[in-house]
Amino acid sequence: MKIAVLKERRPLEMRVAATPDTVKRFKALGYDVVIESGCGVEASYLDEAYAAAGAVVASSAQAALQGADIILKVQRPLSAGEGLDEIGMLPDGSTLIAMLNPYAAREELKTYAAKNVTAMAMELMPRITRAQSMDVLSSQSNLVGYKAVLDAASVFGRAFPMMMTAAGTVPPARVFVMGAGVAGLQAIATAKRLGAIVSATDVRPVAKEQVQSLGAMFVMVENEETKQAETSGGYAKEMSDDYKRQQAALIAETIKKQDIVICTALIPGRAAPKLVSKEMVASMKTGSVIVDLAVEQGGNCEVSEAGAVVDYTGVKIVGYKNMPSRIAVDSSALYARNVYNYVALLSAKADGALAINGEDEIVKTVTLTRGGGIVHSQFQSI
Ligand code: NAI
Repeated sequence: MKIAVLKERRPLEMRVAATPDTVKRFKALGYDVVIESGCGVEASYLDEAYAAAGAVVASSAQAALQGADIILKVQRPLSAGEGLDEIGMLPDGSTLIAMLNPYAAREELKTYAAKNVTAMAMELMPRITRAQSMDVLSSQSNLVGYKAVLDAASVFGRAFPMMMTAAGTVPPARVFVMGAGVAGLQAIATAKRLGAIVSATDVRPVAKEQVQSLGAMFVMVENEETKQAETSGGYAKEMSDDYKRQQAALIAETIKKQDIVICTALIPGRAAPKLVSKEMVASMKTGSVIVDLAVEQGGNCEVSEAGAVVDYTGVKIVGYKNMPSRIAVDSSALYARNVYNYVALLSAKADGALAINGEDEIVKTVTLTRGGGIVHSQFQSI
């Protein structure tokens, strides 16, 4: 069976869905691999390295897709209106594995079904122990948390660690991390390593121990409501208006003492909670920095703008889009390993063939279309 790896064509996307390392692993599983020439170049993986790992290099997307059984991508394929019609070129009956963004691109599910494409969305991976090695949200968020702190440091006009020099003492920076999930915990660890004084907040009480174990202070409005703030999947729920008021008062008090704020708070399937108001930004010292990682989901900060660095009352609010792509070598390597582990789960042993078990919880949770229809319970009504 043949696996095709396409070049990413969406703006700002520098990642690639397979690396020379995963090509070698697919070959060992018995698959043939074809890559579109240049697919990895923006993440520093060159055609020659893929070829040395055993891939065939095709000169175009069309050539790579010829007779492909499995298509690997980072982002969902383009449609005719977006330039190259990648969806139109998907072979009938093939399996597409990528982050397909099904909530935002619901209509495309019908097209996959009509083409008899088995479409699997990696970002729907269940948060269960068995799926950890395939969890793309975790692998990407982890790197993003790290990169956010470095992005903050690069626009901050001061140092992070305390330095005692002959010319005087540089005070340590104060970093506040909002949302202590995967990205937030890595941001805390990174800021600590850089020597900052770090504190963090969340609505899930279990985050307290995780934050403290990294040597940071935990700040939180804890009440009866927070006992139920976590879903069975480990995610946060939207909080009541009363909770939001209490939380806003606590954040307002905390934030004015901070130099750097890293916002990571998300609620699955909803707009990001607005946690930092204009007044809170204005209360911060001139030269402070906010990095809003939630900017593409509406932002945690009222004044952040997707794709821009905004200056508001002397505070810089960083709202870069597609953060994983800003660390494309490692984010590609981890994403590619997640995808490889998933394909290995779908494969019959050592003969390079798919043996999809539709009853497996992992497979069920990520499969959107199969056998010419939409099979995912959350999307069947469209
Ligand atoms: P996420 O990206 O959906 O959210 C980020 C953080 O924001 C979460 O910690 C959330 O509680 C917090 N948040 C939401 N609303 C907030 C508010 N109003 N104020 C302050 N904080 C708020 O979450 P992420 O990072 O994807 O993971 C969340 C949790 O999922 C993890 O901490 C873990 O418990 C669980 N998880 C489990 C895995 C597994 O078992 N395989 C793998 C990865 C995560």
